[in-house]
Amino acid sequence: MDVQLRVLPDAQQLVDAVAAGVVSSIVGELESYGRADVVLTGGGVGTAVALRLVDLIPQTLVDWTNVHLWWGDERFVPYASADRNDLPVVSALRDIPPPRPTLHRVGESSIDFPLADASSAYQTDIEDMFALKPDRPPFVVVLLGLGPDGHVASIFPGRPSIESSMTCLPVSDSPKPPANRVSMSLATLRKACQVWILASGTEKHQALERLMSDETHPTDIPARGVQGIDSTIVWADTQAAYGASQ
Ligand code: 6PG
Repeated sequence: MDVQLRVLPDAQQLVDAVAAGVVSSIVGELESYGRADVVLTGGGVGTAVALRLVDLIPQTLVDWTNVHLWWGDERFVPYASADRNDLPVVSALRDIPPPRPTLHRVGESSIDFPLADASSAYQTDIEDMFALKPDRPPFVVVLLGLGPDGHVASIFPGRPSIESSMTCLPVSDSPKPPANRVSMSLATLRKACQVWILASGTEKHQALERLMSDETHPTDIPARGVQGIDSTIVWADTQAAYGASQ
């Protein structure tokens, strides 16, 4: 696995650099293909990147309706819950004028919409998009926040889901709350020109070191199981890259 490491001095510079890089990849994909699909991630730095991306939308003169935003995983809670990964983006988009990107959201939890149905509905949405792009990597960029245990999306160490060949799967026992989630599989997350893994803060240092080692297996660090077709980049701040010595 060929993984590049890019280190930025702090979290803010990391967020700015990643968001600018996503916009540039989107512009290139729209120029060559007319549509760009990007996978966003929840978590601290992932949400900050997504919000910075929303800030850049009005400054970037492309037809944003041809930009499709997905989430690598979503907490299976009501749309209005502060636990949702997509809520900050949905709220921020309300404050900017059209054209806005097209959002692909996991359905909300409710009495008559169980987790398995939410996962299969999201799976159908993703597979419909795959069918539109038979000759092209479906995602131009996949963003993934690195968990302190090496998880990405809702694929956790030691779980059978690491090997799943499904497009998307229901997760009912996430060790990171809330327990119920819908996650793209690692196989789906690999269908990307570029995979960018985000790590900020000293609590990510150990997972990042293990991720960068050729000795590490995805069973222990699931992030190790996701590579981009063109490139795989770990974007880290100095604390995540070098640990407490910084
Ligand atoms: C979630 C996220 C998850 C997250 C990582 C990193 O739903 O919790 O999608 O995969 O990206 O846990 O999160 P932090 O950056 O907050 O540590």
